[in-house]
Amino acid sequence: MKKLKKNSAENLQPRSASESNVEMNDIVLPSHANALGTIFGGVLMSWIDIAAAICAQRHSRRIAVTASVDALNFLAPIMIGDMVTLLARVVHTGKTSMTIAVNVTTQNPLTGVKKECVTAYLSFVALDSAKKPTEVPPLILKTKLEKANYAWAARRRETLLKQMKQQKRSKPS
Ligand SMILES: CC(C)(COP(=O)(O)OP(=O)(O)OC[C@H]1O[C@@H](n2cnc3c(N)ncnc32)[C@H](O)[C@@H]1OP(=O)(O)O)[C@@H](O)C(=O)NCCC(=O)NCCS
Repeated sequence: MKKLKKNSAENLQPRSASESNVEMNDIVLPSHANALGTIFGGVLMSWIDIAAAICAQRHSRRIAVTASVDALNFLAPIMIGDMVTLLARVVHTGKTSMTIAVNVTTQNPLTGVKKECVTAYLSFVALDSAKKPTEVPPLILKTKLEKANYAWAARRRETLLKQMKQQKRSKPS
């Protein structure tokens, strides 16, 4: 078991998700698009990573790095001209890691029609000044939904970590 440098007590005060929620808005320009006139996946992934990183750093008050993108589902295409809203929130905290959920919705500027386009889950790890994993504040769970999401994310994380271990063992060297 690795020894962790203690984060300051003040920095480890439990925090609610509402303290670190992030809303980012953008508009899809031709420079963001692929040959089909829809957003290039890599551009959207970059926006998702940025929204999630801000959320993780707000929660931990530390520099946080992306450890993994645990899920990224493109549910509907996003067109040039669409207004895009990314909502990022902390759904689970471990000792040094945080799971951030990001939902991406769009709105057509002419019709006002909104669409849910992407759901993503990312794991971030908070780092200390020596760039080593450091403890993060626990998450205060206020609502029934937050509690259910936390339990769901915890189960999901357990499965992911098991899979990672198995992959490491079975990888041909
Ligand atoms: C992520 C990183 C800091 C983990 O460092 P490490 O020394 O392997 O950390 P540990 O094994 O002590 O694990 C620390 C935490 O990270 C979690 N973790 C490590 N790798 C992970 C992964 N691939 N996915 C999800 N969580 C991961 C562990 O479960 C642990 O969580 P916990 O403390 O909440 O239980 C390290 O692998 C790293 O620096 N990766 C590169 C990050 C990067 O460059 N990102 C892109 C730019 S931001």
